[in-house]
Amino acid sequence: MAVATFLRRGFCLVLPLALACSIWLYLYPVFKGCAFPIASRDPIEAFQETKKLHWPYAEPDNGVPTELAPFRLLALGDPQLEGDTSIPVKTLGFLPHLKKIAKHVAFQTKHSSLRERVRMTLHDTVDFYFEDIPNVLESIRKLIDLFCNDFYLAHIYRTVHWWTRPTHVTVLGDLVGSQWIDDAEFERRGRRFWHRTFRGGERVPDEVALFPQREYDVSGVLTNSEESSVWTRRILNVVGNHDVGYAGDLTEERMERFERVFGKANYELRFELPVTDPELNKTIVDDETNPESLRLRPEIRVVLLNDMNLDTPAKSSVLQDVTYNYVNAIIGNSHDVEFQGGFTIILTHIPTYKPKGVCVDAPYFDFYPSSEGGGVREQYLLSPDASRGFFEGILGVSGNTNADGKGLGRPGVILNGHDHAGCDTYHFINQTNGTTQADRSWEHITWEDAQTQEIPAMPGHPGRREITVRSMMGGFGGNAGLLSLWFDWEAWEWRFEYADCALGTQHFWWFTHIVDAIVIALAVAYLGVRGLEAKGVNVDKRACALVAFLRKRNNELWTRGTKTAAKANGTPKAG
Ligand SMILES: *[C@@H]1O[C@H](CO)[C@@H](O)[C@H](O)[C@H]1NC(C)=O
Ligand SMILES: *[C@@H]1O[C@H](CO)[C@@H](O)[C@H](O)[C@H]1NC(C)=O
Repeated sequence: MAVATFLRRGFCLVLPLALACSIWLYLYPVFKGCAFPIASRDPIEAFQETKKLHWPYAEPDNGVPTELAPFRLLALGDPQLEGDTSIPVKTLGFLPHLKKIAKHVAFQTKHSSLRERVRMTLHDTVDFYFEDIPNVLESIRKLIDLFCNDFYLAHIYRTVHWWTRPTHVTVLGDLVGSQWIDDAEFERRGRRFWHRTFRGGERVPDEVALFPQREYDVSGVLTNSEESSVWTRRILNVVGNHDVGYAGDLTEERMERFERVFGKANYELRFELPVTDPELNKTIVDDETNPESLRLRPEIRVVLLNDMNLDTPAKSSVLQDVTYNYVNAIIGNSHDVEFQGGFTIILTHIPTYKPKGVCVDAPYFDFYPSSEGGGVREQYLLSPDASRGFFEGILGVSGNTNADGKGLGRPGVILNGHDHAGCDTYHFINQTNGTTQADRSWEHITWEDAQTQEIPAMPGHPGRREITVRSMMGGFGGNAGLLSLWFDWEAWEWRFEYADCALGTQHFWWFTHIVDAIVIALAVAYLGVRGLEAKGVNVDKRACALVAFLRKRNNELWTRGTKTAAKANGTPKAG
């Protein structure tokens, strides 16, 4: 067959596959029906509304469809960018045994005898073949893997961001894969994070990331204006154990470099929803005109919290005090529980306590020996006490019906990562249980069970939902979380819903790009051949000559090989 025809047929054969895979990969949120939930909580309707953001369904000049929730948070869990530490040649050096052999042979090493020198040389030769070479191959594989993984994660961020159009973005901790890396490697991973994986994203400026206070300026207004669009680019980075270490590892230096590269670890943001109806506007509390009202201006408070050192013992008591002071400031500057119209979103890394069996991760604590400081070495969940700080402290829920607001607390939700598998939990306290507060304790069940038992609607059962976002790593299906909040003007309360949008494992991403590369290679080769033919080169003849030559060589090697084997076996030569 002529070379050009061969290439053309190959191209035509692979092209449809490449096109189909690429279209699916680059439009996967569309094929998977991903969309931020809307007030009806119907995923199909939500998808129809999201379509209106895009050509050809977009209605000219209508902007963002009004049905879409005014607050849409794209939540990504545990990207864990790996690096140096997983590449053997970076940790063990490049061909270390070959270097040793060279030294032995060049008499650069000390040995008691020549026999010893020969022995060590042979030793290192074995290691060269069975350690160095496999390590180099593994390093090459790992380098390609790391490089492509950055783009795989980038693909998730870019594609979901483009299709669903979030108003805010958060990465829920473990941005990098290890807290043990040195400063240079940390900087490198920071650059990869900002310039490759989350390209187009921006660090939240320090002057915007505020410590809680009574009098504050809102961080943004929930409109579709140009001004509020800066929040679609800013990434609210939560600090995780692989970024700075658990309480037993967390030092000021590790915290400093994290905050410098990724943004502050503890801060709050306040987003206000404008009230356009003047009648409704009049119902809002105002010290002078309307002091009796319990209606606040609709507002979402986003609280980022470093929960690495909520539990004890911590290595740095200074940093632990920072966290505790911050939590106290959040509580101290919250609106009173009786008021309506506020909503708190807590973004943190380690999930709250729940007994074994509710999520994949069960309670687990490990500590350093006391000789090494005795701090927390590892933990899967927060302790029950630290967890109560969220529900009873920040959200003001209580088992005591005589507490402020009958113990029903402030509306809110907790989002976190850490448990790569993800989880959706409901934590509640049964106020009708027993007669005293001591009889009532926190109960923890999956959100699904809570809904089937209709616990969230039960009187005297205040509770809060905790969403642990499944990791965006390939091994966990490249997930992205979509949290929507909208305002119920009648009840004067925020409502929320959450949905997942998963790309699937990294293998399909790899497959598509390899097939695409083959198509491009075939096209280039075909054009090259046609170009040569146009210049009068007989490509077919040369190709035939090349094939014939290779076949001859091959035959020669083959016969030589059999002859040698025959000689070695001692069989007489035939002929
Ligand atoms: C709402 O009321 C406040 C005063 O409480 C006023 O400053 C503001 O202009 C009003 N907005 C609208 C849209 O009526
Ligand atoms: C709450 O406690 C009451 C009284 O013990 C009990 O009847 C009820 O079933 C409890 N609620 C749940 C959801 O278990």
